[in-house]
Amino acid sequence: MSESVSQVYVVDDDVSVREAVSSLIRSAGLSVRTFASAQESLGSLREEVPSCLVLDIQLPDLNGFELQQELAAEGVQIPIIFLTGHGDIPTSVRAIKAGALEFLTKPFDDEYLLETIRTAIAGDSQAGQLGGGICEHGREDDLRMDAASRAMPNSAVNVMSSRLNGNAEAFGEMIGQSAALRQIAKQIEMVAPTDASVLILGETGTGKELIAGEIHRKSRRRAKPLVRVNCACIPKELYESEFFGHARGAFTSAFRDRIGRFEAAEGGTLFLDEIGEIPVELQSKLLRVLQEKRYERVGEDRTRHADVRIVAATNRDLKREVAAGRFREDLYYRLNVFPIRVAALRERKDDIPLLVKHFLDLLVKELRCPTPRLTRAGLEALQGYDWPGNIRELRNVIERAVIFARCGTLEFDLPVTGSSLDPISFAPQNAEKAQWEYLTEPEMQRRERENLLVVLQKTGWKIKGVNGAAELLGVKPTTLISRIEKMGLKRPA
Ligand SMILES: Nc1ncnc2c1ncn2[C@@H]1O[C@H](COP(=O)(O)OP(=O)(O)OP(=O)(O)O)[C@@H](O)[C@H]1O
Ligand SMILES: [Mg+2]
Repeated sequence: MSESVSQVYVVDDDVSVREAVSSLIRSAGLSVRTFASAQESLGSLREEVPSCLVLDIQLPDLNGFELQQELAAEGVQIPIIFLTGHGDIPTSVRAIKAGALEFLTKPFDDEYLLETIRTAIAGDSQAGQLGGGICEHGREDDLRMDAASRAMPNSAVNVMSSRLNGNAEAFGEMIGQSAALRQIAKQIEMVAPTDASVLILGETGTGKELIAGEIHRKSRRRAKPLVRVNCACIPKELYESEFFGHARGAFTSAFRDRIGRFEAAEGGTLFLDEIGEIPVELQSKLLRVLQEKRYERVGEDRTRHADVRIVAATNRDLKREVAAGRFREDLYYRLNVFPIRVAALRERKDDIPLLVKHFLDLLVKELRCPTPRLTRAGLEALQGYDWPGNIRELRNVIERAVIFARCGTLEFDLPVTGSSLDPISFAPQNAEKAQWEYLTEPEMQRRERENLLVVLQKTGWKIKGVNGAAELLGVKPTTLISRIEKMGLKRPA
């Protein structure tokens, strides 16, 4: 083998696939060796390490997945591209989690396969220069993912880590540098190229929609639409029509044919936001299209095929919803192929300074005002707060502070409820200040009233539910209603 030409191994028991893939690889000026079984390839793999391995799953003796594990156990690190006719989602996710670079199903797209091989080879040579990998610590989930990244070929880890380290403060539109955010970035990198369903779980305002967007942008569906459906906003009787469309005359107000969201997202990604809000009696209809990839418009017999990747999000505890009989268990498992848990902002406070800077830059531009001063005490106050409304609340607080920063210094009006006794706020250098800085009762009441009015104005006096004033303030709707009454606040006519 020439030193300068990258070598690709192809393992497939189907001779026609071996021939097709090897001639494709040769046509790209690369060197290729083919093997009819994993056992046969193993001997050669122990002697020389190719730049990339294109591997079938169902093989006569050792299957592709077992070969991947065998190589990982022996410390042989090769970027693996799975190419299989048996492309069920759980297998692909398993393979990707164990470190496969890509999972493609037959019949494959020549250009996409070549592009993936080139990416693998480029990553592999980069791995030689960079060495090392990502090492993070965290909760159970994180550990599971860490195990995956340890088993992952160096090239794949390094392609990811170089993207993260190259710009440690941002991943797409996501700002932050915490271990939790990096973990999410890693998960997005892993799952985006597959067609696996993703379930994004996290409190309100943690960035679930942003993550859905990143998954779409990093998928091969990126040229096709990303369609968002807010399941909380659809009246019960319109769900079916919203999802699948309807034919003219299907019901009284159906004056013309209308395409549904599945059709609008054809070839792309359908983001089912607030999935926990779908009424249980309608969940079976969604399950059917996810399982069979077929649906009919309301009032029409013709069956349509759906080629749509599903990303769902919720701030509800879906397992508890299942236990309470409000969410179908089979639908839960269908959606939960690849869960991404988004940590609350209070669990990743090291992201706060970067986020503050990001929002300040953004808001100063948006509001066309001079950059206000952010004091150390101001930043400490932000880091000492619990952020029940997470990043959305942080943005709102900063926006308010920028508007009020008349004398050029930002002052943050943070509700007393929900603030955490973060040790930072009680550090010795603050003790003196804390002794002397206080507000009088009338001043406190005035501020609370002002704050309430700002939030109510922002939400259009929506109290309950997602993005309601109660949620943004981090209080129960009933508490908020009694406070409004007590202060005698009236909704403007
Ligand atoms: N890591 C981040 N970097 C920058 N902005 C972020 C980040 N995460 C969230 N945001 C911003 O915070 C706001 C809320 O994010 P998003 O709408 O994605 O949250 P969500 O989890 O979908 O909330 P909800 O459950 O209420 O729908 C948005 O303005 C978003 O751009
Ligand atoms: Mg959202």
